[in-house]
Amino acid sequence: MFLEDKLSANEKMFLIGHDACISRKSYILPSKRWQQIAAFQKTGSITLVKDLTAFYSKSALSMRRSEIRDLLKVARRPGIISFAGGLPDPQTFPVKELEDISCKLLQEKGAIALQYGPTDGEPPLREEIAKWMNREKASIKPENILITAGSQQGLDIISRVFLDPNDVVIMELPTYIGGLQAFNASRAQMIGIPQDSQGMRMDLLKNELADLARKRKKPKFIYVVPDFQNPSGITLSLARRKMLLQLAYQFDVPILEDSPYRDLRYAGKDVPAIYSLDTQNQVMVLGTFSKLLCPGLRIAWIMAPAEWMERMVVAKQGMDLCSPTYTQLLVAEYLKRGLLPIQIEKIRKLYGRKLKVMLKALNQYMPEGVKWSKPNGGLFLWIELPVGMSANDLFAQAIESNVAYVVGSAFHCNGKGQNTMRINFSYSSEQQIEEGVQRLSRMLKENMNTPNT
Ligand SMILES: Cc1ncc(COP(=O)(O)O)c(C=O)c1O
Repeated sequence: MFLEDKLSANEKMFLIGHDACISRKSYILPSKRWQQIAAFQKTGSITLVKDLTAFYSKSALSMRRSEIRDLLKVARRPGIISFAGGLPDPQTFPVKELEDISCKLLQEKGAIALQYGPTDGEPPLREEIAKWMNREKASIKPENILITAGSQQGLDIISRVFLDPNDVVIMELPTYIGGLQAFNASRAQMIGIPQDSQGMRMDLLKNELADLARKRKKPKFIYVVPDFQNPSGITLSLARRKMLLQLAYQFDVPILEDSPYRDLRYAGKDVPAIYSLDTQNQVMVLGTFSKLLCPGLRIAWIMAPAEWMERMVVAKQGMDLCSPTYTQLLVAEYLKRGLLPIQIEKIRKLYGRKLKVMLKALNQYMPEGVKWSKPNGGLFLWIELPVGMSANDLFAQAIESNVAYVVGSAFHCNGKGQNTMRINFSYSSEQQIEEGVQRLSRMLKENMNTPNT
């Protein structure tokens, strides 16, 4: 018996992600299961090896590895067209502008820029972000802004401040994988509400909230990615945003609005942000410059009612003392110079074209029975294979065909969505998008023609 025969599809995928050659040699990986596999490799039978993971805390054990981070390693192999990551196109990075600001900053304010700073963030940056958010709601103040190292840190801070083990968090089905990771680390109970083309289904949300209320369970918050959602590309309609707020008020549950793609609209009309419609101070927002400027600066923010700020600042103190002063001041000056709207316009044009190319290629090459979302913005499209086909099982074949995607089940808090996948259109060139869609379509077509797949 070969080791390969003992592995599930997910385990094979994971090993591929770690460059292991499955049938001959695998790595010892940090869990009992992987150590057993390695032992099997040596002896031909599964034997127990010393379990060093027994020292982990319960929350460390409940942390989920990001399948995306693992897959990205595979997707970086030469020759592969990767639709897997959510990377911006590096040609959009404002290198020249940042170089100018950086030189001036170091010459004139080097002593401040290279020093520790306040935990809640550099005042000029908090001011500029409050101004940016005031475009949609005039009452946001710098005191409502906490600077974070990426929105991912924002998710971590909010999880630590709001969640005890078994607390309920409600979210879209599917949802952003990094949210799942953060809530998992706090050992929260996650409840997914299905979406349709208008976003989260409010009838189902209402039933769920009523059901929880009957059981005397109050969710800690409702997590939504309302604009061109990662992963589905769906935007929550205005009517649903209003209903969401009504339900949040009725059942007294805060909303966490995570919106990195809000300004990346390529078609259609803007829909007001949820926080701009909020009249009862019940919405927290996660904002980030990762997709507008560049992710490498790691500058993002939490906007929250001032009452919640104090605990969040304390949580952040224990994590990093402060976000990098240098990149905060860099972004503050960038915003002060009014460069962001010009940058956003540039990105919109480029990604809008890429989205068109991808939609056209999908129309042209995808076999019948495959469906996909048609977003008006963001970075992602969501693909649904005919029921019974598994994007997880096909992943290894996709890699052999030199194209990569992320399996949709990774975005489901209930482990479902096997027949779905997420594909990205911001990173690859237009030629690569067309070629990659052809490769993916060919691979799917072959599998549709093969019985029992
Ligand atoms: C919905 C959502 N939230 C948060 C993040 C994290 O972004 P960052 O940590 O780069 O600010 C991402 C990144 O892709 C995202 O899609």
